[in-house]
Amino acid sequence: MAHRNFLDRCRLFVYTAGIAALTALLPISGAAFAQTSTIKIATIGSGNIGSTVGGFWIKAGHPVLFSSRHPEELKPLVDRLGQLARAGTVRDALAFGDVVLMAVPYGAYPQIAKEYGKEFAGKIMVDAGNAVIARDGEIAKPARENGVGLTTAKLFPGARVVRAFNILGTGRLKEMANHSPLFAIPIAGDDQEALKVVSALVREAGFEPVIVGSLQRSKLFEQTGPLYGAQMTANDMREKLKTLQ
Ligand SMILES: NC(=O)c1ccc[n+]([C@@H]2O[C@H](COP(=O)([O-])OP(=O)(O)OC[C@H]3O[C@@H](n4cnc5c(N)ncnc54)[C@H](OP(=O)(O)O)[C@@H]3O)[C@@H](O)[C@H]2O)c1
Repeated sequence: MAHRNFLDRCRLFVYTAGIAALTALLPISGAAFAQTSTIKIATIGSGNIGSTVGGFWIKAGHPVLFSSRHPEELKPLVDRLGQLARAGTVRDALAFGDVVLMAVPYGAYPQIAKEYGKEFAGKIMVDAGNAVIARDGEIAKPARENGVGLTTAKLFPGARVVRAFNILGTGRLKEMANHSPLFAIPIAGDDQEALKVVSALVREAGFEPVIVGSLQRSKLFEQTGPLYGAQMTANDMREKLKTLQ
């Protein structure tokens, strides 16, 4: 039943986000169509990327629980972000969020999967992690070889993994959010409904989503891929994609 309520909330969210995107194109005030649906989001990791992307979603009106192994240290962050922000442990985050942003060093994924893997079942996971061999140890090797997306999906078999927000540093993300024209964020995943929800969340963060395809295809925007670091519009990214295998 809880899973069903979550799906219903996601559908309402995608629907209202779609209306918001359409009204932005119409010559009437977008403010007349206030957002009516929010989605509960949690971050696993609240450092550079967790606090930045979570902060975008707070601005868009979503409640976000930021997690850490030392949640008391997140007080300045949640005080700064206001009433929609709260802090907690990883377990609190997984109890709270329908959508979970993975924002920890890739080396921590196996331990998090071992301790909390079951709690990810049915959750949409926005995977922003990058695997760096010098930093992340053994797990970085299969991630580099097979792609982070497929490696994460193997570590968290119940999660609905969507790769997003991994291609740019947080300084650039903050500068680029809500730029006119919008900059593209490539996303990829194997679950179509999860892709729709994350597309809407990318829009609400102030970017235009470009669905690159399956998790396998997310290799195109990993550190060794041609779209890593891309700073371009969605149209330009779609044109570039046509030239890539
Ligand atoms: N920095 C960027 O601009 C950027 C851009 C795109 C993608 N990324 C990727 O995003 C991920 C995070 O990078 P970051 O720069 O945001 O890192 P960061 O600033 O160092 O933050 C890492 C966060 O992960 C938490 N953490 C670490 N180990 C953990 C564990 N075992 N269990 C639970 N929480 C843990 C830390 O919290 P506590 O220590 O308080 O528990 C901290 O909040 C990396 O995979 C990185 O490659 C980063």
